[in-house]
Amino acid sequence: MSIRRIGVLTSGGDAPGMNAAVRAVVRTCKAMNIECIGIRRGYQGLINGDFERMTVSSVSHIINRGGTILYTARSDEFRTPEGQKRAVATCKLLGLDGIVVIGGDGTFRGAQALSRHGISVVGIPATIDNDIVCTDYTIGYDTAANTAIDAIDKLRDTMQSHERCSVVEVMGRNAGHLALYVGLAVGAAAVLIPEKPLDIERDVVENIRNARLNGKTHYMVVVAEGAGSAFDIAKGIKDSIGLDPRVTVLGHIQRGGSPNARDRVMGTRMGFCAVEALAAGKTNRVICQRNATLIDIDIEEGLAMKKGINEQQFRILETMTNG
Ligand code: F6P
Repeated sequence: MSIRRIGVLTSGGDAPGMNAAVRAVVRTCKAMNIECIGIRRGYQGLINGDFERMTVSSVSHIINRGGTILYTARSDEFRTPEGQKRAVATCKLLGLDGIVVIGGDGTFRGAQALSRHGISVVGIPATIDNDIVCTDYTIGYDTAANTAIDAIDKLRDTMQSHERCSVVEVMGRNAGHLALYVGLAVGAAAVLIPEKPLDIERDVVENIRNARLNGKTHYMVVVAEGAGSAFDIAKGIKDSIGLDPRVTVLGHIQRGGSPNARDRVMGTRMGFCAVEALAAGKTNRVICQRNATLIDIDIEEGLAMKKGINEQQFRILETMTNG
């Protein structure tokens, strides 16, 4: 069947570079004579029939913009069979021959559901968490990491002057990739991630003690939001060794800002590949980066892969934080 019209949506937490991916989808469609419909507000928009026709001018001057021009949402209704039925009805009403969904893990579970209802779907991984196991990279991760690094470098200046300890919370409710990566890049004294059970004495206090014995007078502790409360960790440090840490929660600032080169180019490459996959008649696929090449794999297969952090990176972190 030749593809005449497809939809594109962004869903879940936004990520810098999503706009580059939307732009690439629209421009690739134009080159292939495929009509492109933008679905606003993710799966909720698909349920509500919230759409706009996309042209090259709808996506001009967005490659450099953070956020997503299509808006995004986390839809509880789409998790219900009734919500999914309504979303499928919208796809049929609009005559969509396929749909490109841009987002993280939850977005791909939604894609799976659509696909089980006979809708052709291709997913593009975009989340600052970088926690989609089947791909080496998810759009937005590098920009978010650099935003966090920039903020932590600024904190370090004032910590150094005051000879303080800082506890910084970075995003990552279920995954510690961002915290681990940022922690390595800022030379943190300790990094706490949800994948590793927390022992403040062993994982934080002991590192600070060793750092002090080696002449350090300021200490940076990076905590993924899912690893525990930054305020509790600061209190634990105070109770144990009497330092009075300052807490900074970086929060949603990490999700904003102009995407860097990596995220613009990855968004563009993945957007192109997603349309190419749909045009080739593929469905239920996710675009993945493996060893610098983009491939597409079955979504079910991708989602079934075991999650976990990079143990080698963790060992490197343990070595770097050892005093
Ligand atoms: O999925 C990306 C993410 O930024 C997580 O790191 C974070 O825990 C979550 O989204 C926050 O979600 P919300 O924007 O709904 O508060």
